[in-house]
Amino acid sequence: MKLIDYGVRSDEKPYIEEWSKENGIEVKIVTDLLTPETVQMAKGFDGIVAYQQLPYDEKIFDTMNEFGIHVLSLRNVGVDNVPFEALKKNQIRLTNVPSYSPEAIAEYSVTGLMALLRNLKHMIRKVDDHDFTWAPDIGRELNQLTVGVAGTGRIGRAAMKIYQGFGAKIIAYDKFHNPEIEKQGLYVDSLDELLKKSDVVTLHIPSLGKGHTLINKDSISEMKDNAIVVNTARGDLINTEDLYDAVVDGKLYGAVLDVYENEVGVFNNDLNGQELDDKLLEKVVKSPKFILTPHIAFYTTKAVKNMATISLNSMVDEIKNGKSENEINLEK
Ligand code: COI
Repeated sequence: MKLIDYGVRSDEKPYIEEWSKENGIEVKIVTDLLTPETVQMAKGFDGIVAYQQLPYDEKIFDTMNEFGIHVLSLRNVGVDNVPFEALKKNQIRLTNVPSYSPEAIAEYSVTGLMALLRNLKHMIRKVDDHDFTWAPDIGRELNQLTVGVAGTGRIGRAAMKIYQGFGAKIIAYDKFHNPEIEKQGLYVDSLDELLKKSDVVTLHIPSLGKGHTLINKDSISEMKDNAIVVNTARGDLINTEDLYDAVVDGKLYGAVLDVYENEVGVFNNDLNGQELDDKLLEKVVKSPKFILTPHIAFYTTKAVKNMATISLNSMVDEIKNGKSENEINLEK
């Protein structure tokens, strides 16, 4: 069996090499992303592993079919950039890594929130300039707040445990009820109710699809004054312009954004010294009321190792047994 792994970063490479040695399976490591051009390198391989934020072009799958490659294994969880119809047309199966470390993302959500509640961005900027004064950066305490968790999958539940440890009051919403959360009586009946009752709304759900936002002018008007939004899920869940305006107007306190609707091509790129074309992003970066980071909630040694190895294991299962526990249902 010969596999090819695309878009590999330097921090992932040692884990892939170790897996290859341990399993005695050749893995060609490629730093390029998977595109209609680079897919040509896959000729003669049995399966393709990849991770990228760039949308996967439909033409890739025609070529895979032509080369007799019928499995694409992603090193990440999100499949919103994969055209399912093109996979189906070419009889290509897809796997992802649904759980590489829910704790990594949950811990980061809380880290971002704590930083915002204690105004760390502004305080650190002041200290960098030798301004050691306290005001106006008086903090707020998590133990006095109601945290509304939107989405009680693995990440949402891991976050809830941490918030409970801090003594916050927790409420949750999910269209699929988890028995553990149900038992604790934490579910509210609707997203509207969650928005109305929460001091902090933390998002742990997948993208709702193009043009469908959860946080926008209308939903913000339902939220408590001084509330906070935390998003480590998908950028397109939020109309960022509306969110920014609500913070500037003083309706909301601020936001933690580890994802951003127009992050592709910006996040994980060094644009040091360059002006950003995206003026909204520039304003968000500058504002002390936004903790903005470049999609790094997942970025821990544990998560990266799991992403590298679980994706390869799924690929082996698919090739050897025609199925894997991480295969995505393309009909959903
Ligand atoms: C995903 O796994 O889909 C993520 O959002 C993390 C990614 C940046 C590797």
